Amino acid sequence: MSNIETKVSELTYQTWDSSPQDLLRVVLNEFRDKVALSSSLGPEDQVLTHMLCEITDRAKIFTLDTGRLPQETYDVLDQTRARYGVEIEVLFPEAQQVQDMVRREGVNLFYRGVDLRRQCCSVRKIEPLKKRLASLEAWICGLRVEQSTTRSEVARVAVDETFGLIKVSPLAHWTTDQVWDYIRTHDIPYNALHDQGYPSIGCAPCTRAVQPGQDIRSGRWWWEAPEHKECGLHLDSDGTLGHKES
Ligand code: ADX
Ligand code: SF4
Repeated sequence: MSNIETKVSELTYQTWDSSPQDLLRVVLNEFRDKVALSSSLGPEDQVLTHMLCEITDRAKIFTLDTGRLPQETYDVLDQTRARYGVEIEVLFPEAQQVQDMVRREGVNLFYRGVDLRRQCCSVRKIEPLKKRLASLEAWICGLRVEQSTTRSEVARVAVDETFGLIKVSPLAHWTTDQVWDYIRTHDIPYNALHDQGYPSIGCAPCTRAVQPGQDIRSGRWWWEAPEHKECGLHLDSDGTLGHKES
């Protein structure tokens, strides 16, 4: 077993019954300045930001600004900074890579096929994420099992084979209702689009509103088959969603 697998086993055993807050405490204590929350400013990440800021005033949080986000996401970014007095590091893609891609394929390439869509996600999200994760031993994200069939195996603590570190998903087993109850109880800022039929929000051109009762991720890359709807942030190196516990 590799060191990282051993650490995942230990943490899984140690936090099996822990609340998300206790899991965050353990992880912060273990990894110190080598762990950060990757926040899309979505509801789960807002819950995690709130929890982290209650535990420490030195939480590390970053967000990937693809350059194609809706204005409402920038608004909630500012509101969150103001509410918690926390720095949220904003990461941008390499300008040259974006320019080359747009010159080659046009600015709206993602609508022309899964490969082009993945190329855009890779340049605008994955590359900046990879660079940031290189300085960390663990990252925290807001994945939940209930979000999608592609996420049914998400573990709270897992080996991230794609990026070679530990991935922590404290809300993996929370329901959508639990997330929203927590947001309302604590009056946590959230994206205004959620009240306009958008349960899950990514880049503006790749997100649309859904009808009541529709799958929560059906408005993301709505022109693609459900099994393709991952941007690569949460895929294993073999192209599947492994999220293996050790
Ligand atoms: S995505 O892969 O389809 O875009 P989703 O929007 O469900 O993912 O978010 C799942 C988790 O991935 C979030 O809770 C967050 O941890 C991370 N994430 C997604 N988008 C971003 C982003 N733009 N910046 C930082 N983290 C993100
Ligand atoms: Fe590009 Fe759409 Fe992926 Fe955003 S979600 S990076 S616009 S393909």
